[in-house]
Amino acid sequence: MSPRLVVAPTAQDVGECVAAMIVRAAQGAVSRRGRFLLALSGGQSPLAAYARLASGSGMPWERTHLFWSDERCVPPDHPDSNFGAANAALLSRVPIPPDQVHRIRGEEDPAAEARRYEALLRRVAGEDLPRLDVILLGLGEDGHTASLFPGSAALDERARLVVAVDAPSEGMHARITFTLPLIAAGRRVVFVVTGAGKARAVARVLEVQEATLPATQVAAASRALWVLDEEAARDLGDALRRAGCRAWARQTRPRV
Ligand code: 6PG
Repeated sequence: MSPRLVVAPTAQDVGECVAAMIVRAAQGAVSRRGRFLLALSGGQSPLAAYARLASGSGMPWERTHLFWSDERCVPPDHPDSNFGAANAALLSRVPIPPDQVHRIRGEEDPAAEARRYEALLRRVAGEDLPRLDVILLGLGEDGHTASLFPGSAALDERARLVVAVDAPSEGMHARITFTLPLIAAGRRVVFVVTGAGKARAVARVLEVQEATLPATQVAAASRALWVLDEEAARDLGDALRRAGCRAWARQTRPRV
């Protein structure tokens, strides 16, 4: 099955495309279910989308609940905190009720916090397997996504929805992450990937479909949509890349 792909010219275009997608999904979720459940991803790639959401309009912030698909085991004011990055780019600039911002507490004991966060997701979503409306994900150069790293036992977890994982390598933090079942239950799963540094990983996942890579397994289980810039898409075959560029052209065609 060919992946669902949009290839935008620049990282800024990716940010605008993802922000517009989130606003549309939010308005649809609120009209159908009275609220919008959104999981933000970590890293740098989604920051342009967060800034666009902060400066744009149309988001029903008073009906939105925010979660994170993973977090480093650091305090919220640590420079490596995913919450900290999203707070600076987005949360501090929009009128979302503070009790609807569900931060993973990276400063707590990881295993206990993973259990707490899983229970919180179930309670807020009101279902045993929470179906979040949008789950944003990034892609690491090694094919990881969220904090599901190649070879990690967390990738095989099928019972728990949130787990703690050890630091994947020297100098990195331990983390808390969504597992594959929770991501696969998402109504929309969106990979946001930009920059030439990711081109090889993108090709390994989308062109080669290397089954051992976490992002390949997550994308297959979730019917994910990929929003790439041209640099991240440059190692894809012509057919895939052209399909993604056509999808971008359709996205940006003036709506009559
Ligand atoms: C994290 C992320 C991780 C990230 C990718 C891409 O906490 O590190 O969730 O999965 O999305 O590593 O990171 P960049 O967007 O910074 O390249």
